[in-house]
Amino acid sequence: MPSDMQKTFYPRPLTSVKFDTAISGRIYVNGELIEGAIGIVDGKIAAIKKRISGARDYGDSIILPGRVDPHVHFRDPGYTQKEDFLTGTLSAAFGGVTCILDMPNTEPFLYRYPALEEKEYIASRKAVVDYGLITGMKNRILDEKALKRSPALKIFMAPTTGGIVNELDDLALQYLLNLMKDYGKPVIFHAEDMKFISNEKTGNLIEHLRNRPNMAEESAVRRLISSGKPLHMAHITSTEAVELLKNRTYGQTSEVTPHHLFLTVDSDFENEAYGRVNPPLRKKRDRDALWDALRDGRIDMISSDHAPHTMEEKEEFETAPSGIPGVETALPLILVAVKKGLLEFKRAVEVLIENPAKRFCPRKGSIEVGKDADLLVIDMKKVRRIDAEYLHSKAGWTPFEGMDAIFPESVYLRGKRIIKNGNFEGEKGLGENLWTKHPAGHNGHSEPEREG
Ligand code: DOR
Ligand code: ZN
Repeated sequence: MPSDMQKTFYPRPLTSVKFDTAISGRIYVNGELIEGAIGIVDGKIAAIKKRISGARDYGDSIILPGRVDPHVHFRDPGYTQKEDFLTGTLSAAFGGVTCILDMPNTEPFLYRYPALEEKEYIASRKAVVDYGLITGMKNRILDEKALKRSPALKIFMAPTTGGIVNELDDLALQYLLNLMKDYGKPVIFHAEDMKFISNEKTGNLIEHLRNRPNMAEESAVRRLISSGKPLHMAHITSTEAVELLKNRTYGQTSEVTPHHLFLTVDSDFENEAYGRVNPPLRKKRDRDALWDALRDGRIDMISSDHAPHTMEEKEEFETAPSGIPGVETALPLILVAVKKGLLEFKRAVEVLIENPAKRFCPRKGSIEVGKDADLLVIDMKKVRRIDAEYLHSKAGWTPFEGMDAIFPESVYLRGKRIIKNGNFEGEKGLGENLWTKHPAGHNGHSEPEREG
């Protein structure tokens, strides 16, 4: 036998593995903060150890997995005066979000493959964090090719900014849910029942709430739960709906937004139109019920429903489009709520980070060997006041102005530090679409043809 065939291959012992990057601090592993170090190879967590020599040490700071935000509207293409994929994902990164799912109510409305291809191209050049592009449905057309490259399907049961309403009777709903189960894609519902929504002129938040009463959400949520099929209910807002969530069946999940947790129709707004959103802000009683449901597990996760509009559009309440920006402030606000004792730290990590990842993007969401090395370095002592001037959305305003927040100091995306001491050091196009494989790499797309 030639001698080179006799060579024995020994797997390298872990101690001699050369990591691309290693960091240490108080790391969140298996539900606990422990002093330790994380070794990263090829963008993945390769080792979790007591110590790694040469690791960048973050001392007393805590290190959490990056957050997945399952519900944002980045407005690109079509409404880039409100936001685009660069400003939206920058805002996400500064808020500790390393993966976002973008909603289809852009222009053209995304329900067919050519529109998806166009958005894929745009996002591939601009995104600074990872993402998935959610598909919608119009005229009951489902485009299989688009769905395959998409993390989920979004169904709007009621009219809202730029959304195409999908009216489905019970039979159609069953048919759709069965079909989507075969595709293996979750269906996300904007759960408000058209029957109870009125379009009367509104001059303030109380009137807006009157147009979209609790009953509208209750009715839609009741229908969805009684379908008995796995599905996801976006932005739950009412006492009645969280009561119904007690009866949900296997695979039925729900989310709540920070604006419904921190604001009500009676909050003090610099401009009341900043609180105009669908489903609407409700009463204190509803807000308290949402916190209870978030604590006891009826609500599974927090999404920002980041829906920016320009300041000019929000000038007059009556004509203002509904929607609130929030991808950058969600985690920072909740961390302060933890400090105030509103939510346990472990539960906060579940609802902000672990649960959205498990539901929509399992390669992220925990500090575990094999997962993406998306990591947030957070100093819980550094509380700052939210000031729209320092946020990164094009909106330029926030209804959370002046509220306390804890922003991550540093953020890693697949092992690369993209925020260092509050400064961006990533690059455009670094974010990847996790639901497609780009043949020529994520920057090598050819220009797609525009639909229509
Ligand atoms: O208030 C809202 N704004 N609710 C939605 O469902 C859509 C969103 C938007 O895109 O502006
Ligand atoms: Zn939305």
